[in-house]
Amino acid sequence: MKHAITALLIATAFVAAPLPSTAQYEKFPFFKCGVPTPYSFPGSSASFGNGTFCGTLAVTPPKNASDPCAKADLRKIEVNINPACDVKNTIVKATINGVPTAVSPSFFVPAGAPEGSVVLRLTQLGLGLGNDGDNICITLSAKTPGATNACTNLESLCQAPPGAAPGTCVAALVDTTLRCCAINEVSPVRPPPRLTCFYLHPRPTPAASTPFIFNSRECKRATDDIRYTIDNQIAAVGAELDDRVTPFHNCSESVASVCWAFSSPAEGAKLQEWAKDLVVRWQLDAIGFLTEFKCYPWLIGHQIEMVFAGYGTYPNLPRGDINANATQDAPPEQANIICTPDLSKMTYPKCTCNTTTFATQFGVQKWMYTYPGRKPTTTLFCFTVLVLNASDPTSPCGRTDKLFKAEIWGDDKQRQKLKGIAVQPAGAKNLTYRSPSWGAPGDQTIKVSQLNWTPQQADGGRICLELESNTDLDSFCLFKLGKTCWINFFDESLACCPLYPSTSIEQLLGN
Ligand SMILES: *[C@@H]1O[C@H](CO)[C@@H](O)[C@H](O)[C@H]1NC(C)=O
Ligand SMILES: *[C@@H]1O[C@H](CO)[C@@H](O)[C@H](O)[C@H]1NC(C)=O
Ligand SMILES: *[C@@H]1O[C@H](CO)[C@@H](O)[C@H](O)[C@H]1NC(C)=O
Ligand SMILES: *[C@@H]1O[C@H](CO)[C@@H](O)[C@H](O)[C@H]1NC(C)=O
Ligand SMILES: *[C@@H]1O[C@H](CO)[C@@H](O)[C@H](O)[C@H]1NC(C)=O
Ligand SMILES: *[C@@H]1O[C@H](CO)[C@@H](O)[C@H](O)[C@H]1NC(C)=O
Ligand SMILES: *[C@@H]1O[C@H](CO)[C@@H](O)[C@H](O)[C@H]1NC(C)=O
Repeated sequence: MKHAITALLIATAFVAAPLPSTAQYEKFPFFKCGVPTPYSFPGSSASFGNGTFCGTLAVTPPKNASDPCAKADLRKIEVNINPACDVKNTIVKATINGVPTAVSPSFFVPAGAPEGSVVLRLTQLGLGLGNDGDNICITLSAKTPGATNACTNLESLCQAPPGAAPGTCVAALVDTTLRCCAINEVSPVRPPPRLTCFYLHPRPTPAASTPFIFNSRECKRATDDIRYTIDNQIAAVGAELDDRVTPFHNCSESVASVCWAFSSPAEGAKLQEWAKDLVVRWQLDAIGFLTEFKCYPWLIGHQIEMVFAGYGTYPNLPRGDINANATQDAPPEQANIICTPDLSKMTYPKCTCNTTTFATQFGVQKWMYTYPGRKPTTTLFCFTVLVLNASDPTSPCGRTDKLFKAEIWGDDKQRQKLKGIAVQPAGAKNLTYRSPSWGAPGDQTIKVSQLNWTPQQADGGRICLELESNTDLDSFCLFKLGKTCWINFFDESLACCPLYPSTSIEQLLGN
């Protein structure tokens, strides 16, 4: 008896297997389908990157009004499902023009279809010839979070026809009589990615001796830091990025930017409040306002503009998925801050002379560059002299037309680190080395006397400290902020000695 039942079951299984006579229904939708009906989803489906996919229904009655299906309704949409999709773990919801369908979509195994076939059915749609342009959406989600096979995108949900792009869905559009049925392929098209960018622009005011200019290394360093912070926040709030865009940075001389793309505006919105707080906080951080001197030397006279917006040419930016602007979002008293060093605690120079910047026409570039010294163990740290406009060219200081001598703030307890001084007026072929020369013990002053440079010799002239290569300028130059040394330029009367900082870009960037 038991054997008989087994034999019967086996026989039944064989009967259920597709027979040659049913071969015409071995393919989706597994019943007779394929006459012209008025319904189609032309073009593509839109994806919003959050599991929602939408198509627009087109109603175009056949040219021959006598066609049997010319006035058919649209009751059902059936979709061929990828056999690998874990339908038990996938929830599908459907809406028509935003209204949930009367009956929830469901998966079923069509009778007589080859093993593994699965179909998704949306039924009782109640659509007809008047529904041209209706927006039909399905939203996919996993029943249990983290279910590995749940199909939350069209690539995993739909069985694409051979040769079609993954994510192409084949749908049967069926009427109430089941006689009018058209097959439609809907190919996936995502809207193009929308970039969101962060922009950093140090804006010079008249108080800046020269505008801040990014070189490629500084820009990379700044944008790496910014990306690190933004990436961390994206991970912390679980915002999803558009996988078609690799985040990138871009630098012009005055603007550093970092760009990426969220998978939808809703993902970007998760960082909106954080971004506003960030630009307000970073605007102060970036100029060194929270340090003892309230300003990084390389940004003296600058304001910092920081913006989150879309991709464009600064400052003409479209909106992005995050929008913030430090100048707007910060309280006005902060937004108006110009980087101005507080030098009230500075103990240099010891001599009495006018240290006001722009008192004479002689100044210095904000970056010091390094060169090899005379020995393998020494390095030249070079100031580059600049000719500026004196603030009052008719004043006694402003009339100065000779760079008589220079002095540099340095720690005379570390005088053994200074191996030489090298100078090179503009136009001279070679550096000229001199022995180190220090002021009286306790003056903390390195002397570079008897320059007597004309403005032509001064503009682009170099004054270099030859130091042991391992010297830390924060220590040797005594300022203790940002690898910066201070130099002043005297006129012949020694009454005028405008004082300027210059920063070793190599030490600052950590080489
Ligand atoms: C997905 O995004 C679209 C467009 O932003 C939105 O209309 C829809 O409500 C979202 N759906 C879900 C489930 O979040
Ligand atoms: C229109 O359809 C009817 C019914 O199928 C058919 O008899 C007729 O020949 C068709 N007319 C044209 C112009 O195709
Ligand atoms: C980077 O910025 C420069 C200067 O603004 C611009 O010419 C260039 O197109 C930008 N590159 C990219 C990849 O955005
Ligand atoms: C930021 O806001 C300021 C103040 O409203 C405005 O002048 C500036 O153009 C804005 N920057 C950008 C890039 O939109
Ligand atoms: C120093 O020079 C500046 C600019 O020439 C001038 O405005 C200022 O009054 C001078 N200071 C002193 C103490 O003489
Ligand atoms: C100095 O002032 C003149 C006249 O205002 C101007 O043309 C020139 O660019 C200025 N030079 C510098 C280095 O600022
Ligand atoms: C500059 O230095 C080179 C190599 O050390 C030397 O040959 C040359 O004579 C020097 N030129 C001058 C003008 O001192």
